[in-house]
Amino acid sequence: MCQSKKAGIIGLGMYLPENVLTNAELEKMVDTTDEWIVTRTGIKERRIASSDEATSDMAVNAAKEALKNANLTPDDIDLIIVATITPDMFFPATACLVQAKLGARTIPAFDISVACSGFIYGLTIASQFISLGTYKHALVIAAEKLSSVTDWSDRATCVLFGDGAGAAVLGPVDEGGILSTFLGADGNKGDLIKLPAGGSRIPATKESVDARLHFIKMNGTELFKVAVKIMADAALGATNPLGLKAEDIKLVIPHQANIRILNAAAKRMGLRPDQIYLNIEKYGNMSAASIAVALVEAVNKGLIKKGDKIVLDAFGGGLTWGAMVIEWSK
Ligand code: UT7
Repeated sequence: MCQSKKAGIIGLGMYLPENVLTNAELEKMVDTTDEWIVTRTGIKERRIASSDEATSDMAVNAAKEALKNANLTPDDIDLIIVATITPDMFFPATACLVQAKLGARTIPAFDISVACSGFIYGLTIASQFISLGTYKHALVIAAEKLSSVTDWSDRATCVLFGDGAGAAVLGPVDEGGILSTFLGADGNKGDLIKLPAGGSRIPATKESVDARLHFIKMNGTELFKVAVKIMADAALGATNPLGLKAEDIKLVIPHQANIRILNAAAKRMGLRPDQIYLNIEKYGNMSAASIAVALVEAVNKGLIKKGDKIVLDAFGGGLTWGAMVIEWSK
C-alpha cells in the first residue's frame, strides 16, 4: 500500500498499424469520393491492422512503449485496464491476454466496454485505486481493431473508422495529475450506434451473418446532433467544478469522430481552433484509441508542458461520454 495522492500520467505509448488505407483506395471499394469524405468528416486516411494482428497485439505494443516512457517494467504494474469494443474474443478479457504477453505479475486485469469514451473511463477507474493508495501503478490501454467489425460494403460507415492503440501508465504524482473527471451515459440512445449480433440477444447464426448484423450499424445524422452538445456539456462538467475558463485550458484532446462535430463543439465551448488537437485526417475514428493516440502525439510534439491544464473529451456508443482535466506533471 502506498500513501494516498493524486494520480497522474507518468508514461505514454502508442501503436498504429503500418498499412494505410487512403480515400482514393476507398473510392475503388464503395460509391464514394475523396471530396465527400474530406468535406463531411475531415478524414484523408486511416490505418488498418493486418489479418494476423489482433487488438491485444496492438495494445501490447502501445503498453511496452508507455512502460519504457515511464521507466518502469511490467513487474512494477499493479493493475491493467483495456478499453475496447473490439476485444480479441468475448473472453478471456483482452486485458488478461495483454497481462500474459507482457509477462506481468498476477495482478487484476479487466476490459471495459464504453466505446469511444473508454480511455477516459479507464483513466478514471484506475485513478481511484491510485488515489486511495490501493495500487501504485496502473496501465490503461485503449485499443481497437474497428476494421474487424466494419461493413466494407456500407459507404456510410466504412469511410470513418481505423485501427490503433494508445496506452498510459498512471502513478501517484506530487504535483498536478488528474484534477477532475465527469462521466455519463444514456442507454436510451444506445440504438444510434451498435453492433447488433454476436451477443446473447442475437447469437451468431448463418442468418445473422447473411444479414450483416456482425458489423457496426450507425445513425450518423442523429449521432452528429447529440455529439456536439454532449461533448461541450461533458467538458464543462469537468472544468466548471475547478472554476476553469476556456482561456485556462492549454489543449483539448477530443474524440476524433468528425471534424465538423469538433469545430461546432469547440465553438460552443468558446475555444480557439488552436486549443483543439486534431489528427482525424490521418487515422479516422479509432473509438477508444482516438484520444489515447492523440494525447501521445500532442505530448511528443511538445504541445503539452509541465503545469499545463488539458481536457480529454469523449462521447460514443452506449451512449457514453466523459471528460477529464489533467494538470501535466512530467
Ligand atoms: O464515434 C462516435 C460515433 N460516430 C459519430 O459520431 C458519427 C457522427 N456522424 C457523422 O459524422 C456524420 O453524420 C457522417 C459523416 C456519418 C455522415 O455525414 P452527414 O453529413 O450526416 O451525411 P448524411 O448521412 O446525411 O448523408 C448525406 C448524403 C446521403 O445521400 P442523399 O440521401 O442525400 O442522396 C448519403 O447517402 O451523403 C450520402 N453518403 C455518402 N456519399 C458519398 C453517405 N456516406 C457517403 C459516402 N460517400 N461515404
